[in-house]
Amino acid sequence: MQVCAIGCGNVGFNTLKAFQIRGHSVFGVDISKAARGNVADSFGAHAVIDRLAELSGMDIVFICVPTDPDEVTGHADLSIMEEVVRGLSSLESRPAWRRHPPVIVQRSTCPPGSAARFSAEFEHTPYAVNPSFLSKATQWEDSDRPPRIAYAGPSEATEVLDEVYKEFTGAPRYVSTSYEAVELLKYIENSIDAVLISLWNEYLQLSDALGMQRRFFVELAREITSRDRFATTLRVPGGSFGKWCLPKDLSALLGMCADLGVAGHVLRGAQLTNQQMKDHGENLAATSELLALSGGRTVPTDTAATALLGGCQGVPGADGC
Ligand SMILES: NC(=O)c1ccc[n+]([C@@H]2O[C@H](COP(=O)([O-])OP(=O)(O)OC[C@H]3O[C@@H](n4cnc5c(N)ncnc54)[C@H](O)[C@@H]3O)[C@@H](O)[C@H]2O)c1
Repeated sequence: MQVCAIGCGNVGFNTLKAFQIRGHSVFGVDISKAARGNVADSFGAHAVIDRLAELSGMDIVFICVPTDPDEVTGHADLSIMEEVVRGLSSLESRPAWRRHPPVIVQRSTCPPGSAARFSAEFEHTPYAVNPSFLSKATQWEDSDRPPRIAYAGPSEATEVLDEVYKEFTGAPRYVSTSYEAVELLKYIENSIDAVLISLWNEYLQLSDALGMQRRFFVELAREITSRDRFATTLRVPGGSFGKWCLPKDLSALLGMCADLGVAGHVLRGAQLTNQQMKDHGENLAATSELLALSGGRTVPTDTAATALLGGCQGVPGADGC
């Protein structure tokens, strides 16, 4: 198939690479010279598409542009998505597009309700939601072997995604007819991580305040996770959850809660504890010490750690998405 990404940063570029090694022809559109250069170096000069108008003939167009929070409101800023969707929908009247409309895929993280709104911009072009679940620190591994594959849309769209994703085996797969369910799934997964990171930071603060040695903290963490129901709840504390998707998506989720009249006390608490960590609690030395005591690997201090203790693999992720 002919697969294009609009926005060739972490998500777009790695998405293209994962499809290219599975035999698809890949193309990229980006406003950044560096990103276009990266596409040309990796996939050939012909893979760089300068204008949306040249997209006719594609089978799938993944939109992978930033959706960072608005600095004032904290809500996801969808202005770039809106601009791209407008640009794509203006191509619908072209004969080549009419003959073979590509599936437009919203891969950027957008609040529930976005896909319903964006898909309404198209008359006869199928629109799907297919968020990326990559962590920044393991972006290629997570693109080549996704930790989850989830998509939603009308059958004309999901059948094409079924086809291109059939070679990605082993990932839990969720295919829905509800755009909102898949959009919300992405925010829920990230906010569970955010809440757990803040929770374990509070446990570490408590343990330190009690004067407990860190090796006992590691012991009790092992003990807790030896019980099935808590087995996957552990995150290695010490660092805040960084500057990438967790704070961004938590902020957007809280914006949605506010709009919908949902209090979101637990989510707000995770955000407050994280702010406190950033202001004066950041203790990445504690992260390294805990990992060393647990026999886990030490993660670089610029990658705040989310890891399973007790001999399990360290999984960088506090800065991940
Ligand atoms: N980084 C992650 O770990 C991660 C994980 C999952 C989901 N996401 C989501 O994926 C989306 C993209 O994230 P990213 O990390 O790849 O961002 P990024 O900043 O690495 O890449 C975005 C790219 O889009 C380009 N771009 C901006 N405006 C454009 C336009 N009008 N037309 C074409 N290209 C344009 C930028 O130049 C940039 O190269 C965001 O919604 C993010 O929340 C990110």
